[in-house]
Amino acid sequence: MSRVPIHLKVKLPFSWIATRTLFPRLFSQMADLSGMRKPYHSTEDVFDIDHLISLDPLQQFNAWLHEACKDKTILEPNAMALATATKDGVPSVRMILMKGFDVSGFRFFTNYNSRKAIELNTNPRVSLMFYWEPLKKSVRIEGTVEKLSEEKSTEYFSVRPKDSQLGALASNQSSVISGRDALLSKYKELQEQYAQQESVPKPEFWGGYVVKPFAYEFWQGQTNRLHDRLRFRKLREGELLDESVMHKGEDGWVIERLCP
Ligand SMILES: Cc1cc2nc3c(=O)[nH]c(=O)nc-3n(C[C@H](O)[C@H](O)[C@H](O)COP(=O)(O)O)c2cc1C
Repeated sequence: MSRVPIHLKVKLPFSWIATRTLFPRLFSQMADLSGMRKPYHSTEDVFDIDHLISLDPLQQFNAWLHEACKDKTILEPNAMALATATKDGVPSVRMILMKGFDVSGFRFFTNYNSRKAIELNTNPRVSLMFYWEPLKKSVRIEGTVEKLSEEKSTEYFSVRPKDSQLGALASNQSSVISGRDALLSKYKELQEQYAQQESVPKPEFWGGYVVKPFAYEFWQGQTNRLHDRLRFRKLREGELLDESVMHKGEDGWVIERLCP
């Protein structure tokens, strides 16, 4: 006997057929996005070496992030994609929030048992990507991660709203769960357990990482697709500065222009 619930048996085929019949254009548009195109920067508004605010990529990142923070249409300028990979090179990517940066690197927080954390345990190489759509600017960072100290993780956990603290406690991030109810009942159980306390202690399975960059790419989009791409990287051992294609940055960084 079929184990498909009766409401799915009835509703799914009906809604599928009805949607296709009533909205055929929607379906054809979903299949073809070739006409979807927005203007980027004009040829009078390019991003070249002499437009860099600094020859230090961290300062340059700081300048672009500030620009993104000033744009009120960008609600989460600190949102970034984090790409990780297993030790065999199987990639995965997800959005996270960058919670601070300085010369030591870019910090984020997560569950140490999550898929990303398991991948980071055996392969610390990551790539980060910020995209600020209204500015048509993105920054791509490559580096390696290290775990933040317990003190630093605790310090950040303690300033999170209590609801978020409880949420972190309730979620065995990336694990399979029977349904939303199971998560909610765990959350309610924790709410009761910590009802008398203003905040919740950080669980040991939760904490931060710092990404230590070895390359940055600053990208700015051009309408004609001749996008600007300036990459900062360190010279490889024994590699000499080739002045025909490289510019000397600060602190051993070199800057190169990449084809779009
Ligand atoms: C805008 C945005 C910000 C997010 N910020 C975080 C974050 O800072 N930390 C985190 O663990 N997950 C964050 N998430 C959820 C992750 O995208 C992801 O679902 C979760 O970390 C599990 O990923 P994993 O299974 O690959 O480990 C965020 C999601 C979005 C869309």
